[in-house]
Amino acid sequence: MQGQHELPGFVFPRQLSSRLATAVAARDCWIEDADGHRLLDASGGPLVVNVGHGRPEVARAVHDQILQCDYVHPTMFTGAPVETLAATLARLAPEGIERFYFMSSGSEAIETAIKMARQVHLAQGAPQRFRLISRWKSYHGLTLGALSATGRTAFRQAFTPMLPETAHIDPPYCYRCAFGKTYPDCRLRCADALEEMIQNLGPETVSAFLAETVSGATIAAAVPPPGYWRRIREICDRYGVLLILDEVFCGFGRTGRWFAAEHYDVVPDLVTMGKGLSGGAIGLSAVGIQQRHFDRIRSGPGVFMHGGTFSHHQVACAAGNAVIAIIEQEQLVDRVARLGPQLGGCLTDQLADHPHVGDIRGVGFMWGVEFVQDRETRRPFPRQERITERLWQYLYDQGVLLYKSTGLAGTDGDALVIGPPFVMAENDIERVVSALKAALHHVFPG
Ligand SMILES: Cc1ncc(COP(=O)(O)O)c(C=O)c1O
Repeated sequence: MQGQHELPGFVFPRQLSSRLATAVAARDCWIEDADGHRLLDASGGPLVVNVGHGRPEVARAVHDQILQCDYVHPTMFTGAPVETLAATLARLAPEGIERFYFMSSGSEAIETAIKMARQVHLAQGAPQRFRLISRWKSYHGLTLGALSATGRTAFRQAFTPMLPETAHIDPPYCYRCAFGKTYPDCRLRCADALEEMIQNLGPETVSAFLAETVSGATIAAAVPPPGYWRRIREICDRYGVLLILDEVFCGFGRTGRWFAAEHYDVVPDLVTMGKGLSGGAIGLSAVGIQQRHFDRIRSGPGVFMHGGTFSHHQVACAAGNAVIAIIEQEQLVDRVARLGPQLGGCLTDQLADHPHVGDIRGVGFMWGVEFVQDRETRRPFPRQERITERLWQYLYDQGVLLYKSTGLAGTDGDALVIGPPFVMAENDIERVVSALKAALHHVFPG
């Protein structure tokens, strides 16, 4: 007999409090579970499944690459898929980003970028530069280095004593401005906070500033105000601090441009990618770095003490090449740019009047809807009310999957993220918005 709290099987699952459904099939924008329940995947997990589930082109690329050349050690060999993917990324990435280091997960890409930035300073004869600055209410990954940069308190709490020192500044989150200001009267106070932090730490000790170009899951697609990134870039340049943009969540066409940085005319020193890079079929991430920094590292000690058994993986890169080919052939970045405003408009038309919808924001196919107890004061619901989870569960029961975002206001705060695959049909997108409206009526009757 299974007790109420016992979980059958031998897996240490991601959810310890409830039993997960068993997924048996995933095609296009749909997932099917073992009970025959079909779900419209309107977030692609955490915005991963950009080209839709189960693409034969990706399957064939992976299959063929395994038969052709499955694994070679990345210190011993390169291979065509790795070289091709790097060359394609050099064509698509922000100006000057021409070298790419491949890993398996976003967290590893972040670790790599933090260490690479340090390596650039070492090569320039600035060994005193080691400090990292990032932002509160950010997510950069689960490994201890990436977690130290992460500013999502609930994720950090248990491990805080183990985390390397990282300084955090407040994010550009206009709906809940940490400085109590309103754009444009704020004069980008949140960007100037970086300069203050650099000065406080000692400019000669700071290595890099790491931030998501558009905030992801933690504050549900909060978009930075105009001028934010230009100001940040100026500050970084003034103090010789490298700018690492984390585009693991918002990159790869998600915002209607290949890289979200393009919206803001900002060119980073390093950029991280993951998630949609392989469309979810296989683990793949990357760090892009300016050619001039790469040249410095090469002309310095000539080594970057880093690696990983599965770095520069031939099969994962073959999947990445297939995903990019699909996006280009089907002009999916243009599609996201065209339909993104429509999705935002539909969310606004359907939901903006609801008394518990506080804010709707986003770009491309990355939108957040934040729920509040009181629209006037923006007071959040207490976490114990589990508003996000209740809305999510209703949607799940109705056959629609969105992505949860909680802890936007201290430990309180609720939102859902809508991040459909780029191929989702327009009527399915409308259906998702209608389902969210129905969920609001269900959770807040009357
Ligand atoms: C912005 C951002 N960076 C890094 C990561 C870490 O990626 P992964 O979960 O693949 O390690 C995530 C994951 O959600 C992310 O959203």
